[in-house]
Amino acid sequence: MIEIRDLHKYFGALHVLKGIDLDVQNGEVLSVIGASGSGKSTLLYCINGLEPIQQGSVIVDDTDVHAKGTDINKLRTKLGMVFQQWNSFPHLTALENVALAPKIVKGKSKAEARDIAAKQLIHVGLGEKLDVYPSALSGGQQQRLAIARALAMEPEYMLFDEATSALDPELVGEVLDTMRLLAEEGMTMICVTHEMGFARDVSDRVAFFHQGVMEEIGPPGQIFGDAQSEHTRKFLANVR
Ligand SMILES: Nc1ncnc2c1ncn2[C@@H]1O[C@H](COP(=O)(O)OP(=O)(O)O)[C@@H](O)[C@H]1O
Ligand SMILES: [Mg+2]
Repeated sequence: MIEIRDLHKYFGALHVLKGIDLDVQNGEVLSVIGASGSGKSTLLYCINGLEPIQQGSVIVDDTDVHAKGTDINKLRTKLGMVFQQWNSFPHLTALENVALAPKIVKGKSKAEARDIAAKQLIHVGLGEKLDVYPSALSGGQQQRLAIARALAMEPEYMLFDEATSALDPELVGEVLDTMRLLAEEGMTMICVTHEMGFARDVSDRVAFFHQGVMEEIGPPGQIFGDAQSEHTRKFLANVR
């Protein structure tokens, strides 16, 4: 599980996360919502150690992410990350793109890495595209390629940072369907998202961030139907 205690993050004088306390249980799907600039992406980067923190702690399966002795590269193999956009290697096929990290980071043999890559590409619905170059894939297919690439590391957690925000509207659904599939399979997921339908239907809990504070967290029914914070209600009134 992921245990976040009194997490504070500054960029210089800018106080971006102001004492976050949050537990994410294994198998849980958490959606993180909130206005642009509220600290959602920064939270994900602090969880996988891409950003240092100034106070508090992030514990992933008993490992303190920000402790001095922590092997951050090893830890990161547990935490798959999918961004708005991923720049795949244009000169490598879909299969080769996904096989790269298992080979280099996990030391898998070429054949093993290709097997893993094929399995994960089939998993995300790209079984027909193994030998295709990324330029021949649609935006939605490229995002599913990014998901396959993260899954190829056999992570225990998946962090999604607005995985559908850069997509044309008609391509959003296929990526959300893939995320939903992972959720149904029991993957532990933290999804920063503007897709309120997804947050409502797929998440176990929804966290609302406002100016670096986690203002409210609860089951989707509570957040969308009976929000306690006025900021939450205002935000939701504007996105719907
Ligand atoms: N690398 C950085 N350096 C300085 N300020 C940053 C950096 N990354 C984010 N910020 C600032 O931190 C705040 C939170 O950003 P972010 O976590 O990206 O918000 P969100 O993902 O909710 O839109 C914003 O004010 C943003 O400008
Ligand atoms: Mg962001």
